[in-house]
Amino acid sequence: MTGLNINLNNKLDNKNIVIGITGGIAAYKTADLTRRLMEASADVRIVMTDAATEFVTPLTFQALSGHPVFFDNNDETSTSGMKHIELARWADAIIIAPASANTIAKLAHGRADNLLTTLCLASEAIKCFAPAMNRVMWDDLSTQTNCKTLLDKNWQQFGPASGSQACGEIGEGRMLEVDELLTSLEQCFSSGALQGINLVITAGPTFEAIDPVRFIGNRSSGRMGYAIATAAQEAGAKVTLISGPCHLPAPESVTLIAVESAEEMKQAVMSAIDNCQIYISTAAVSDYRVENIAQQKIKKTEDTMTLQLTKNDDIISLVAAHKLKPYVVGFAAETENLIENAKHKLQKKNLDMIVANNVSSKSDNETDIGFNSEYNALHVFWYSNDTEDQIIAEQQFDTARKLQLGTQLISLIAEQYNTRKSQETIQNAKNTA
Ligand code: PMT
Repeated sequence: MTGLNINLNNKLDNKNIVIGITGGIAAYKTADLTRRLMEASADVRIVMTDAATEFVTPLTFQALSGHPVFFDNNDETSTSGMKHIELARWADAIIIAPASANTIAKLAHGRADNLLTTLCLASEAIKCFAPAMNRVMWDDLSTQTNCKTLLDKNWQQFGPASGSQACGEIGEGRMLEVDELLTSLEQCFSSGALQGINLVITAGPTFEAIDPVRFIGNRSSGRMGYAIATAAQEAGAKVTLISGPCHLPAPESVTLIAVESAEEMKQAVMSAIDNCQIYISTAAVSDYRVENIAQQKIKKTEDTMTLQLTKNDDIISLVAAHKLKPYVVGFAAETENLIENAKHKLQKKNLDMIVANNVSSKSDNETDIGFNSEYNALHVFWYSNDTEDQIIAEQQFDTARKLQLGTQLISLIAEQYNTRKSQETIQNAKNTA
């Protein structure tokens, strides 16, 4: 990455995390979770139920966390000066891993019969649980109802996964792997840079029908747009993702509107735009559509055939011309003259920011980038202020996974959007003074 220095935040850095361990064979994985949280510079305290101490020893966790372990019958709890209320207040997040059916049931019903359940009841921290149990126990209606109750009480549920179980059965109930737990926990600490913002993003290709079975499309996979939608949601935005046909799962907590053609995408965008503060257009929208779509499958009768095409509306230009214009970010997919073409689109389409990507083929280090790849490289241009002589600022993001670029780009957009808003507030105050 060059230009301004934008760090990918380690969201667990300096966070106070209580790990609650209940009785289950998956408790052995929690040793690694503890180690990994320490590596991420989190401050960790361990609370074990009596049942947990049958599976793993407190000494292991004391060594890994560097602090005495809290459990019901140990003196360390009192000598360390951390009673349950202090621990409840100290925690930024409590993660119970593994969470047994018994503890889930107690928590759902507000029981406080051991240190862990008392601590949870007394804490306003982020609370998460990673169920781990036999598949029949997991499927049981009581367990399912108890989990639902916890979700209603704002607990975050991580997993469980499916697979072979310690009891010899195969099914749902395995605790998530440590990597997955860490990612889920990190997502609980959104940066908040876009808190309260409504953000609309388009992604993927559009398909323009020729007849009932054929269409004109393009190679966009939707990956770039979905990655940005995920990052925006993690930064606290309320995200509406308007997506052309692609095979990606909808990011969690994002409103997904599936469309097919450019015309459908335009309708969906214009219906969502009134209440939107940031619009990001990553979709590869078809510039043309077939004028007369055949009602039946076209037969192969002639040696040549001609399709008459009509220009589609430029959706992003309509958004930029809207009376309640949001902060508008366009993408430029270019195979040549990347910078000139991108700057030209920034001006011509009246955008606030444009993200250029070279879709000609490979990056400098020969990684496939752009269309239908896991990777991309971005060159971003934006107006650094709103005065008469508009200065174009720029920043490059070197080749990286689209997921990482999504986070970096959202940081930049949030920074520029929030600066713009502050400038407007100051200007309004001056005007009314
Ligand atoms: O989906 P992936 O496989 O991850 O690939 C990502 C991508 C390469 C598709 C993406 O990063 C990208 O570059 N998207 C924009 C592609 C494009 O159509 O660029 P363009 O230069 O033709 O259009 C410029 C801007 O106008 C874009 O923001 C586009 O969404 C918008 N546009 C274009 C035509 C149209 N009718 N309406 C529009 O809103």
